[in-house]
Amino acid sequence: MGAIIAGMPATISFARGAPSLDIVDIEGLKAAAAAAFVADPGGTTAYGTAVGYVPLRTWIAERHEVPPEHVLVTNGSMQADAFLFDHLVAAGDAVVVEKPTYDRTLLGLKGRGAQIHPIELEADGISVDALRALCEGGVRPKLAHVIPNFQNPAGYTLSLEKRHALLGLAREYAFTVFEDDPYIAIRFAGEELPTMLELDGSRGNVVYASSFSKTVAPGVRVGYLVGSPELIKAIQLIATNTYIAPNMLAQSIVYRFCVDGGLERSIATVKQALAERVQLLTAALDRELPEAEYQAPEGGYFMWVTFPGGTDVDALFAAAGERGVVFVKGSDFVLEGGHNALRLAYSGVTADQIDEGVRRLADAYRSLAPVAA
Ligand SMILES: Cc1ncc(COP(=O)(O)O)c(C=O)c1O
Repeated sequence: MGAIIAGMPATISFARGAPSLDIVDIEGLKAAAAAAFVADPGGTTAYGTAVGYVPLRTWIAERHEVPPEHVLVTNGSMQADAFLFDHLVAAGDAVVVEKPTYDRTLLGLKGRGAQIHPIELEADGISVDALRALCEGGVRPKLAHVIPNFQNPAGYTLSLEKRHALLGLAREYAFTVFEDDPYIAIRFAGEELPTMLELDGSRGNVVYASSFSKTVAPGVRVGYLVGSPELIKAIQLIATNTYIAPNMLAQSIVYRFCVDGGLERSIATVKQALAERVQLLTAALDRELPEAEYQAPEGGYFMWVTFPGGTDVDALFAAAGERGVVFVKGSDFVLEGGHNALRLAYSGVTADQIDEGVRRLADAYRSLAPVAA
């Protein structure tokens, strides 16, 4: 794949959860890098410590209205997830995930031998009733991993009622809610909701992770964790033993980008572009593929699309590839099932590619054997 075949159009990718280059603020990042070396040449080039670049740590702490001891800055939030799982999840521990969920979360938990309990994701977030039934049935989760805003892969957002209900369950059954929230800043419609970290206050039932991947650029690899000082201390030790310290240079650049106004500018650019892309994508699907069911997201990068039961998305994937359009199969985001669903990422396609991409997808769908009624 990827080779250019004569006469074959360039592939349009709805697969990657990454921004297209036109919405990355290259000039702003260059300026932030230059400013970082001028403002703090020592801190920018030193090893530093495992808590991260101290000014950025403090800036993040202020944004979340917690003391800096609650924050650890990492190389991407993926690294934060890995440290947290290393600390909290032992082989055989029960862990709740959404169904579907981020494929790398499933991989990380499987790799640690966790006993994974997928709980149905509804349009307003994880089914709290199903989670309650699981707990009432005797399962005692150590951790519940939840992506509350513009979920990956579904694009759904956890309602305020369910945020409260989930925290209630966490208190009752003594599990930690892992609020994995890299998309929070990219809301382009609807009302902002409080994080579960905020709602939980000082009770310590929530560990929160977020990232600059979706608002600055994924290549900076800067993410972070917010939790109780005891938890952060324990994870700091794991981080020190892993890499002494994360990438100070990247964190210093991100810090300058944030304090010099780049972040707010970049978020505005990303939101505007993604709102336009969702509009184009839903209009194209309605026109070309009325069989496709979806809920238009209010932010983030992804949209979950389901086809009539019995649709063979493996076959659709192959037919789409032949026509120069790619996506991720729904089955990649679940332990089993997901065969009539797929994830469309609209973050990496420019507006002018969307119509053509959906036309190719529709053509691929029509090439499949009809689904039995
Ligand atoms: C839910 C979720 N968590 C974590 C990550 C990892 O982000 P980062 O680039 O900060 O490592 C992603 C990236 O796609 C994601 O969707």
